[in-house]
Amino acid sequence: MAEKITVSVIKADVGGYVGHSSMHPDLIATAEASLGKAKKAGTLIDVHVTRVGDDIEFIMTHRHGTDATVVHELAWNIFVECTEVAKKLKLYGAGQDLLSDAFSGNVKGMGPGVAEMEFVERKAEPILIFMADKTSPGAWNYPVFKMFADPFNTAGLVIDPSMHDGFNFVVMDVMKNRRITFSCPEEMYDLLVLIGAPEYYIIQSVHRKSDNDICAVSSTQRLALIAGRYVGKDDPVLIVRAQSGLPAVGEVLEPFAFPHAVAGWMRGSHQGPLMPTSFDSANPSRFDGPPRVICAGFQLADGKLVGPRDMFDDPSFDHTRMMANYIADYLRRHGPFEPHRLPLEEMEYTTMPGVMEKLEDRFEKV
Ligand code: F6R
Ligand code: MG
Ligand code: MG
Repeated sequence: MAEKITVSVIKADVGGYVGHSSMHPDLIATAEASLGKAKKAGTLIDVHVTRVGDDIEFIMTHRHGTDATVVHELAWNIFVECTEVAKKLKLYGAGQDLLSDAFSGNVKGMGPGVAEMEFVERKAEPILIFMADKTSPGAWNYPVFKMFADPFNTAGLVIDPSMHDGFNFVVMDVMKNRRITFSCPEEMYDLLVLIGAPEYYIIQSVHRKSDNDICAVSSTQRLALIAGRYVGKDDPVLIVRAQSGLPAVGEVLEPFAFPHAVAGWMRGSHQGPLMPTSFDSANPSRFDGPPRVICAGFQLADGKLVGPRDMFDDPSFDHTRMMANYIADYLRRHGPFEPHRLPLEEMEYTTMPGVMEKLEDRFEKV
């Protein structure tokens, strides 16, 4: 059997520049130098360092499989190293996503976001890495559903015999730490009941039914649930394989032509449109947003990351960005009112408990 390759995307916010809007180039340079050494030493086959907003992202290929301590520890140590640089520059929120003082085998549950997949590289292997800032992992539910289950988005579901049977969706119940698999199209309506509540149920992975091959995987860590308090939004990542019996690159990108509403934005407490931008425009500034998504496209060549191509650097997404700005204006006019502000359950980690405690005695029974 052919040797499997692993793609690991591990990310964290270890310091913003300026505020939470973007990233200082010294952090990227630090990470590139250290990950470059790990590539020379043979721990990694290849690596690409990038960022979206204030999140630094390590895109790595290797042969250690998913959840490999050697890869997770490498990423953790470099986040710590970048934090030291951030502290020297007094960048904002230096080390904010590193919730623990010491590494303990796997970065999951320690603050950073992780998406990893292991597979046999095909004759040609196009992969798309989506990275978002100022939102949470449930933001992927809508686009991933569209890519793999909506025939109005993905023509291949109708036209390509190898996709016609559909896909399996693994959904994580983040509140109860359990998961369930749905077979689509047959169980599409059940799936939608859950994933339509993206703060509770998150699509973790998608698999082709005919051979159970992995097609997409997302980071499902929710920082607030790990830390038990508000510690910023989770700014998720998503890996999608494309073409030859999977959605085409254009079918994978198509859902993002609609800037759907996601939770996040200012103080992680507002609904806002998810705006697809080029790498250079991924600096959420207005009201610390609106939420951004970038997409780095690669062709894999024996694990080598040939790329990236800046997939949203395309005028055909100009209209989406304009629509996102209109939606941003519309929602901003609501100020502190729902549905711009998140519903009460989502405020549980911020102001709500304190305000209720203060007011408790002043409520009269009626
Ligand atoms: C959202 C985010 C920012 C901050 C906001 C307040 O994910 O990170 O919107 O919540 O800038 O930050 P502090 O409380 O650090 O001043
Ligand atoms: Mg931040
Ligand atoms: Mg961020």
